[in-house]
Amino acid sequence: MAKRSSTFACQACGAVYQRWQGKCDACGEWNSIAEESSAAASAAPVAAGGARLKKGRTFALENLQGEAMDAPRTPSGIAELDRVTGGGFVKGSVILLGGEPGIGKSTLLIQAAAAIARKGARAVYISGEESAGQVRLRAQRLGLQDAPVELAAETSVEDILATLSQGAPPRLVIIDSIQTMWTEAAEAAPGTVTQVRAAAQGLIRFAKGSGAAIILVGHVTKDGQIAGPRVVEHMVDAVMSFEGDAGHHFRILRAVKNRFGATDEIGVFEMGGEGLVEVPNPSALFLGARDAKVSGTAVFAGMEGTRPLLIEIQALVTPSALGTPRRAVVGWDTSRLAMVIAVLEARAGVRLAMHDVYMNVAGGFRIMEPAADLAVAAALVSSMVDIPIPPEMTLFGEVSLSGLVRPVPQAAARLKEAAKLGFSEAMLPDGLQDAAGKTGLTLHPMRQIADLVAEIAGGKGNPKRSARI
Ligand code: TYD
Ligand code: MG
Repeated sequence: MAKRSSTFACQACGAVYQRWQGKCDACGEWNSIAEESSAAASAAPVAAGGARLKKGRTFALENLQGEAMDAPRTPSGIAELDRVTGGGFVKGSVILLGGEPGIGKSTLLIQAAAAIARKGARAVYISGEESAGQVRLRAQRLGLQDAPVELAAETSVEDILATLSQGAPPRLVIIDSIQTMWTEAAEAAPGTVTQVRAAAQGLIRFAKGSGAAIILVGHVTKDGQIAGPRVVEHMVDAVMSFEGDAGHHFRILRAVKNRFGATDEIGVFEMGGEGLVEVPNPSALFLGARDAKVSGTAVFAGMEGTRPLLIEIQALVTPSALGTPRRAVVGWDTSRLAMVIAVLEARAGVRLAMHDVYMNVAGGFRIMEPAADLAVAAALVSSMVDIPIPPEMTLFGEVSLSGLVRPVPQAAARLKEAAKLGFSEAMLPDGLQDAAGKTGLTLHPMRQIADLVAEIAGGKGNPKRSARI
């Protein structure tokens, strides 16, 4: 059997090749493939048939009935953070926190470390990017200087682990960032996939052994992937992303993967002069200042995990001067918008093919739910016919390709939040009327997308209707 002394790995996505090539087939990056010696990869099992395989040690197998290891959690006391982690940092767990540069990852984590330390637990903050002085300066600006956080600027995994192993195991360790760490266990240069993977491996092993919760900060690339090793995402217990928009002050913490909690929860923060402040009632934030008399806006009654969230959707439909009309979307899925447009055309006769369509989710929020279909369709129709949707109206519902308005989960929570924020009417999928309970909302059940168009554009005394659709 031919033995290779080295392999080639894409530094962007971690794909492995037997020989060098200019472009990675897996992720399409150019010049991202670098040689890695097999010594670095020797942590992986040796190929079958290898005569030099070490004889394995036997271990006892257990059944599922045994005592379940409880997952004691350390809540940080920052409610928005604890909601996303699933109730606090789990002992021995490792979280990867991704986010664009400058979004506030370091700020969030120094605040979390300070909160844990103030409760009397040991919290360690290791910065590989900033000097201890810089971290201290930030902490002082945030008014955290009295919190007994243990701080160091270090990048050697061996040194870090030796230091952490002294004394009582820490409850929380922040590694800012994993891309700056390097370990002697791998020969590659710092920042390469091999190094990042090996460094993460060492830290994860320490977390599992000592019971410390570790948060690894990960840089993200332009397109939002955690840079370098996707493999690290598989190794850790939870992956979180910290998102936001340069033009807005608020930030959203989202769980992408969580072995110890739900992944659809979000935490909302506002970045201010004193660091990140929790936003316990984000609906008010995303609704923003509304101009009720303008057509093309609809308020979507959304859900983020267990939390209802009212969000304004804005659409602008204008006649197109181009052969191929423009479709621009901020905060929603482009192909989902294309689908809603096609369904409106085919099932309700709303002719958008000759119009440019711009769609925006107010406040820079990003909606993931298909339940927003109905509100998007309403905003489009409202802009098209230039008839505002009543300001007290909120909408939700999924639209299928057949034009059917389909039920979505958690209708009761959505309606309750709408009533709480002063809305008095709701357009919703037919069949969910019971969910309104005692909210006192006036309901407009919809069966077909055509019902929605008729409701908005076809109201009595709307002279524009026949002219515009
Ligand atoms: P930082 O936590 O350094 O971001 P990351 O670690 O994700 O790169 O955040 C830096 C940004 O946050 C910077 O642009 C300034 C802003 N900021 C505030 O607005 N207020 C504050 O109190 C702090 C500490 C930072
Ligand atoms: Mg930082």
